[in-house]
Amino acid sequence: MEEKKKTIGVRCLLAVGVVLCLSSLAAATEETKQKQLRFRENGEFKILQVADMHYADGKTTPCRDVLPSENVSCSDLNTTAFLHRMILAEKPDLIVFTGDNIYASDATDAARSLDAAFSPAIFASIPWAAVLGNHDQESALSREGVMKHIVSLNHTLSQVNPSGVDLIDGFGNYNLEVHGVEGSGFENKSVLNLYFLDSGDYSKVPSVSGYDWIKPSQQLWFQRTSMKLQRAYMSKAEAQEAPAPGLVYFHIPLPEYANVVDSLNYTGVKQDPISSASVNSGFFTTMVEAGDVKAVFTGHDHLNDFCGEYTGIQLCYAGGFGYHAYGKAGWARRTRVVVATLEKTDKASWGPLKSIKTWKRLDDQNLTTIDVQVLWSNSSPGAGGS
Ligand SMILES: *[C@@H]1O[C@H](CO)[C@@H](O)[C@H](O)[C@H]1NC(C)=O
Ligand SMILES: *[C@@H]1O[C@H](CO)[C@@H](O)[C@H](O)[C@H]1NC(C)=O
Ligand SMILES: *[C@@H]1O[C@H](CO)[C@@H](O)[C@H](O)[C@H]1NC(C)=O
Ligand SMILES: *[C@@H]1O[C@H](CO)[C@@H](O)[C@H](O)[C@H]1NC(C)=O
Ligand SMILES: *[C@@H]1O[C@H](CO)[C@@H](O)[C@H](O)[C@H]1NC(C)=O
Ligand SMILES: *[C@@H]1O[C@H](CO)[C@@H](O)[C@H](O)[C@H]1NC(C)=O
Repeated sequence: MEEKKKTIGVRCLLAVGVVLCLSSLAAATEETKQKQLRFRENGEFKILQVADMHYADGKTTPCRDVLPSENVSCSDLNTTAFLHRMILAEKPDLIVFTGDNIYASDATDAARSLDAAFSPAIFASIPWAAVLGNHDQESALSREGVMKHIVSLNHTLSQVNPSGVDLIDGFGNYNLEVHGVEGSGFENKSVLNLYFLDSGDYSKVPSVSGYDWIKPSQQLWFQRTSMKLQRAYMSKAEAQEAPAPGLVYFHIPLPEYANVVDSLNYTGVKQDPISSASVNSGFFTTMVEAGDVKAVFTGHDHLNDFCGEYTGIQLCYAGGFGYHAYGKAGWARRTRVVVATLEKTDKASWGPLKSIKTWKRLDDQNLTTIDVQVLWSNSSPGAGGS
């Protein structure tokens, strides 16, 4: 997919049996509508990941798996309070909700539940992005309906699907670019790429039971988007030799998360099984081949909160956030923070990415920080590189 053209037109290509129609007009309109994410003046960009809020009806929805002493007036409003506290504590540049945002089967009105679940981000006027889990659609609103409601909310950068792509499985596949510091040589370049995918809910194939997987049509879109971003980054002004790092967010972990556990080399805990699909659709391999992805962030298994590297990509969980979601009494609800930092140039300006760090914050009295780790660094690509 080349640079967007000024002409109005639709191009279609046939690849692997999937028709991709590229509408340059749609892409341009979408771009001007979207607020451009960019690094701050201090060379940092911070992302807060909120996994598995399982929001339902607010104050009438009880908490699960908390200590009896913590269950005094405990409800969805504790989830809301945690998000407000985290926003104040970390002041993120972007909040990413990685699915099971609502527990729709317990929600009286899915749209109102979504409004309430995301309200702290909207109230704080912080850009936010969401993908779907396997519980978001368990009500009158279909997966498409949930995603369409999400994109209508304020301050969201979520998209129902990428503009210009005609056929793609799922709802909530899109990417966001994070540009360099304003006034620097990288102000018009995406120095950090964020990809969001719909990992589905349950298998629709009779011979396969269990959870869904990321389909070939989505992988093809990812591959082409990554290629296009890499071409732009490695050419023109400030041409770079290596692609800009990419981070990928979705709900259901990949089967390769089990390889991280097998290696015994990870930070955080594994207290739940890895509930990936029972088949491997190859998305991990697709990301390894693309070459730009440094880390993947999922939710789904609330009692897992580890990050570990496998074949050059960090595979991370965030741990459960919501109080109506299953958890473990005495093991605090939590959230994952990622900070990307730019390289300082000799001209006292900001260059490309230098490092990506992560930690978790617990919903205790002090919002305790744990498990600080470097996910990737340009000086030692071995640490999270290849
Ligand atoms: C907390 O109390 C509510 C009733 O107010 C109850 O439905 C719920 O099961 C309790 N949760 C725990 C973990 O004890
Ligand atoms: C939920 O919020 C109530 C009211 O602020 C508080 O008393 C209770 O301890 C909280 N429970 C948890 C598990 O944070
Ligand atoms: C969305 O946010 C903007 C800026 O904060 C505000 O001016 C506008 O009224 C909001 N729109 C809605 C529908 O809340
Ligand atoms: C970025 O784009 C703006 C608007 O087109 C332009 O004024 C500026 O010079 C560009 N900056 C760089 C570093 O190319
Ligand atoms: C919070 O910090 C205070 C002061 O450092 C300490 O006394 C207290 O035990 C901490 N609470 C938790 C839950 O970590
Ligand atoms: C564990 O993984 C890190 C990268 O996350 C790597 O730098 C380190 O060498 C690994 N340690 C062992 C013992 O394999």
